[in-house]
Amino acid sequence: KVEPCRMVDLPEHNDPRGNLCVVEAGKEIKFDIKRVYYLYDLPATTIRGAHGHRNLEQLIIAVHGKFDITVDDGQYRDRFHLDNPSRGLYVGPMVWRNLINFSPGAVGLVLASTHYDEADYYREYADFQRDARKL
Ligand code: TYD
Repeated sequence: KVEPCRMVDLPEHNDPRGNLCVVEAGKEIKFDIKRVYYLYDLPATTIRGAHGHRNLEQLIIAVHGKFDITVDDGQYRDRFHLDNPSRGLYVGPMVWRNLINFSPGAVGLVLASTHYDEADYYREYADFQRDARKL
C-alpha cells in the first residue's frame, strides 16, 4: 500500500436539475488549493505525470470519462481506477505517478497545494528512487 495515496469521497448534491459535487479546503482535503489545472484531448496511449513531487499535494478527479493512476512511493506500488466525478485520488508528497488509459473525451481535474514550481519535481525516476529510499 502506498501510504500517501487514498480515494476521497466528495459530497454530491443530486437533484432533478443535475448533480453538483464539492471539494472544500479544510474539509474533503486538508491542504489549501493554490492551483487548478486540467487534462483533456488525451490520446488513448498517452502517459501523463511520470514524475514525483517533493512537497506537492494533489487531488485528482476524473470529472469526465475514466483513467488509471499508478502510484509508487519507492517501496510499494498501487493502482487506482478513476471513473466517478464524486471521488478523487489524494496524492501526497514523494509519490511517483503515471496517469494512463484515458477513455475518449476523458477530463482530469487536478487541485494542487502549491503554485507551479519546477524545483519541486522529480523528473528522473532514479533521482526520485534515491531520495524515496532515504525516507
Ligand atoms: P507536465 O508536468 O509535463 O504535465 P503532466 O503532469 O500532465 O505530465 O506539464 C506540461 C507542461 O505544462 C510543461 O511545459 C509545464 C507546464 N505546466 C505549467 O506551466 N504549469 C502547471 O501548473 C503545470 C502542471 C504544467
